[in-house]
Amino acid sequence: PDAPTRFEVWHQQAKLGSFAIRLLGEKNVSNATAVIALLHQLGHAPEDIARAIEEFRGAARRQQELFRDSRFRVFDDYGHHPQEIRAVLESLRRLQPGRLLVAFQPHRYTRTKHLLPEFSACFAEADQLWLAEIYAASEPAIPGISSDVLADAIRARGQSVELVPNLLHLSGLVRAGMRPGDVVLFLGAGDITQVAHALAAQLREEAPGRNDACFAELRRRLSTDALLLKDEPLARRTTMRVGGNADLFAEPASEADLSIVLQFCNERQIPFVVLGRGSNLLVRDGGIRGCVISLANPHFSQWQIVGDRITAGAGVRLKTLAVEARKHGLTGLEFIEGIPGSLGGSMRMNAGAMGSWLFDVLETIRFMDYHGNVCERAASEVHVEYRGCPLFRNHIALGAVLRGAPADAAAVRERMDGYSHKRWESQPRQPSAGCIFKNPKTIGAGRLIDELGLKGTRVGGAAVSDVHGNFIVNEGNATARDVLALIEVIRERVRAARGIDLETEVEILGEG
Ligand code: EPU
Repeated sequence: PDAPTRFEVWHQQAKLGSFAIRLLGEKNVSNATAVIALLHQLGHAPEDIARAIEEFRGAARRQQELFRDSRFRVFDDYGHHPQEIRAVLESLRRLQPGRLLVAFQPHRYTRTKHLLPEFSACFAEADQLWLAEIYAASEPAIPGISSDVLADAIRARGQSVELVPNLLHLSGLVRAGMRPGDVVLFLGAGDITQVAHALAAQLREEAPGRNDACFAELRRRLSTDALLLKDEPLARRTTMRVGGNADLFAEPASEADLSIVLQFCNERQIPFVVLGRGSNLLVRDGGIRGCVISLANPHFSQWQIVGDRITAGAGVRLKTLAVEARKHGLTGLEFIEGIPGSLGGSMRMNAGAMGSWLFDVLETIRFMDYHGNVCERAASEVHVEYRGCPLFRNHIALGAVLRGAPADAAAVRERMDGYSHKRWESQPRQPSAGCIFKNPKTIGAGRLIDELGLKGTRVGGAAVSDVHGNFIVNEGNATARDVLALIEVIRERVRAARGIDLETEVEILGEG
């Protein structure tokens, strides 16, 4: 959900209280304030009023959200007066959409005639605008007044607009113009609401897991060894063991397959994410709309050691690499033994432990861009951060060459055993996602949470580990909602006690 709109209400020089509403924009604050004033007059306590209005989710056709996924949001609003239109556009702009697309159906010939200059100027916030014909609302037509005239007036102000004389074409035109990240708004008091509902229904149909034709087409394009599943539960594929289902779940069997999945998702604007070994990841209970791509096929888990170099695919577990390095008498990779991820996921995170980072031991990296092209680069040329590598915000790690240094095998084993021992002593064994928060600059998150006495704090089946304060463990029946609520409890306490804003390290995906 979006952050609520927060405001204070003052009465006769004194603060009555702080309030929050789920609706956006100043007009809604103003409406809510009238309600608060009335309830206050009737003798209700400010806390009760606050609780009641915070739950209010709005009325039909008033900033009503008809559809939302990770690509698009579609709103239906009754606004048909220039001031209303301005207000709703400004409030939706606060959602920071990629673009704000607006389709408007003017309401009544008389209103269009009398407010033409105001109408021509009220769509300034729209990045793209469609105009349907005037909805008469029982009025006779006025000669010379039509959407055509309004369109000309809008264009005269330098804004482009597309006229759509037939409402039946509107949904298709808007859909064709949509790009992921867009917020789409249908505006008007006439029958344009039906177009809004039709588009929302079409977008629901498009959901890849629910659309058999889409599924069949991707299946046909992939090699027979590739795995493609619908509505696949993700909890068992994450180390935290919580979360809902993926609409589509694809396990390509080769780089060619992976490239096919990416191109397919691009063509159809299907959002996708790549799953490693499922550590460092929290999937929300509503699951993931779109396609989850896993590199679990053995094709991506090959490795080879020649001299002091290990060439490995993204799917190989870091633990395997550490053990192989040890067997071959290579030092430098001992610290990766305890990191519970795949090479690919760990490259993406620049995973670290025991004071070292994965990128310290990488020589070259291989990756695929989102169009399916494979690239290779020296690891030293790639910008990395503490727990992150920006390159992988729009590239998929395919593998890397890791470099160790020849050493006495017994010494390597001893060092690795030391790390392993330290980890077993200092980190929990129950299911978790690894450390939940990034370490703030001034103090380790684990120590901080420990100092505040938060170990053992529980929400549902999720608990702050008694072993390490920066781990949330699943005691068996936790939901993502429990884990997220516990994260908020910790953040609030840390903020209140130390003024530190803890930032999550785990990646949080999917819908609530
Ligand atoms: N400490 C406490 N109480 C706690 C936890 C830690 O007092 O509940 C103290 C420890 O005694 C120690 C200090 O805090 O003196 C640091 O603890 P630790 O060595 O466990 O390191 P950390 O900073 O808490 C980091 C990484 C871990 C990694 C360990 C071990 C982050 C966010 N965490 O933890 O990484 O395994 O070092 O090298 O950078 C992960 O990223 O998922 C992760 C687990």
